Amino acid sequence: MAKKIKKKELDRREFIALGPVAIPWIGVAWAAFTGATTLLLGATGRFFFPNVLFEPPQSFKAGLPAEYTLGKVDLRWKKKFGVWLVRDVDNERGEGFYALSTVCTHLGCTPNWLEAEQKFKCPCHGSGFRRSGMHFEGPAPRPLERYRVVFSEDGQILVDKSQKFQQEKGEWTKAGSFLALA
Ligand code: FES
Repeated sequence: MAKKIKKKELDRREFIALGPVAIPWIGVAWAAFTGATTLLLGATGRFFFPNVLFEPPQSFKAGLPAEYTLGKVDLRWKKKFGVWLVRDVDNERGEGFYALSTVCTHLGCTPNWLEAEQKFKCPCHGSGFRRSGMHFEGPAPRPLERYRVVFSEDGQILVDKSQKFQQEKGEWTKAGSFLALA
């Protein structure tokens, strides 16, 4: 028994004697432990709350035809859905609507509609597009794309971005690329 006490006493004395050397190492160990725990908690947090990209819906209701003016490019859906809705006259199908993609067909910038000049002008490399979406200046190799437009059951215009129509493939004449009013 006396031997045990002596041994314990010795350990304690040894530790105290080591004091100035041991204390910094304890600090380092605690810092490492705390750091590892923080990393682990961070990783767990990311697992439960991952970075999710919320994309806007692929289709949306754009209101009633009466809310649009003939010959005007409507800008209200540009920012939220990347769409210009145009009320216009088609030679074959009469008055109606088409929905243009706001993505420049050169390298994907967003052009601006210039009302005074009646054209879309891309700020990146200067491509120009007519109100119809046809390209006529700059490096863009093809017209803007159109999205499907139909009437929804409540009479509103429904724009469906899941279906595209490309003029260079002859798709602007297809059903859905133009919503006739008649
Ligand atoms: S991205 Fe539009 S002209 Fe280049």
